[in-house]
Amino acid sequence: MGWSKEWEDTYRTGSHLSIWPWSDMVSYVMRYCRPFPPGFKVLELGCGAGANIPFFLKMNIDYYAIEGSATIVERLIDTYPSLESKIAVGDFTKEIPFEEQFDLVIDRASLTTNRTKDITASIDILKTKMKANAKFIGIDWYSTDHSEFQKGEQAEDFYTRAGYKTGEFADIGRVHFSDKEHLLQLFSSFEIVLMEQKLIKKEVPADEKVSATWNFVAELKETNEKGVSV
Ligand SMILES: C[S@@+](CC[C@H](N)C(=O)[O-])C[C@H]1O[C@@H](n2cnc3c(N)ncnc32)[C@H](O)[C@@H]1O
Repeated sequence: MGWSKEWEDTYRTGSHLSIWPWSDMVSYVMRYCRPFPPGFKVLELGCGAGANIPFFLKMNIDYYAIEGSATIVERLIDTYPSLESKIAVGDFTKEIPFEEQFDLVIDRASLTTNRTKDITASIDILKTKMKANAKFIGIDWYSTDHSEFQKGEQAEDFYTRAGYKTGEFADIGRVHFSDKEHLLQLFSSFEIVLMEQKLIKKEVPADEKVSATWNFVAELKETNEKGVSV
C-alpha cells in the first residue's frame, strides 16, 4: 500500500506539473517558521514537480524531499543537480531515508493521497526525524466538506476515497479527506498551533463545486530518542 503508481503515469503523461511555489505554503512558512537560522532543515513529503523548491533555495534553507515517482525525481535532479543527494525516491509511509533531524516538515496534498493507516505510520516515522519542537505544515489537506468527498467510492477507510473518473481527482488513485476531529487525532502527539479551513465557491460562472481544504501548523511536543512523546 502507500504510494500509488498512478502518480508515475500522471507525470509521464505530463500532467500535474506545478512548478511555481504554492502561495499558501510560502505564507505559512514565512508567518509561522521564521527566523531560519543557518543550517535550518526542511523536509518535503511528496515534492511532485518541485513547485516549492525555488522558494526554499531562495531562503537559503537546507532542502530535502522524498517522492515516490522516479520519473519526476529524475527531472528534478536535472533541474537542481545540487539536490541530487537530497531528493530521494521512496515511499514516505515506509521510510524517510535521511540521517538528518529536521526543523520543519512540509506537505502540500501528498499525505492526502494515502489511506489513514499509512498516514499514521508516516507520522510515526516523521516523529523520529524531527527535532524537538519542530513544526509540520500541512497545506491543502482535503476536507470532508469538499463537494468531491461524497462523489468518490469509499476505499480502505471512511476518510479515504478513490475511483474518481472526472474532476480534479480523476485518475490519481486514493484521495484522503479530513474533518477537524480526524486531523486532531492524526496529530495527537503534536500541539496544533493553527488550523484553518478554506472554502472556495465559484460564483461566476456559477458552479456547484465547493473546494474545502485545511491548512495547519502543528508543533512536535518533546519526544524521547524513539520519537515517542514524553
Ligand atoms: C498532489 S501531488 C502534490 C505534489 C506537490 N506537493 C505539490 O504540491 O506540487 C502528490 C505527490 O505526493 C507523492 N506521494 C503520494 N504518496 C506518496 C508516498 N506514500 N510516498 C512518496 N510520495 C508520495 C505523489 O507521487 C505526488 O507527487
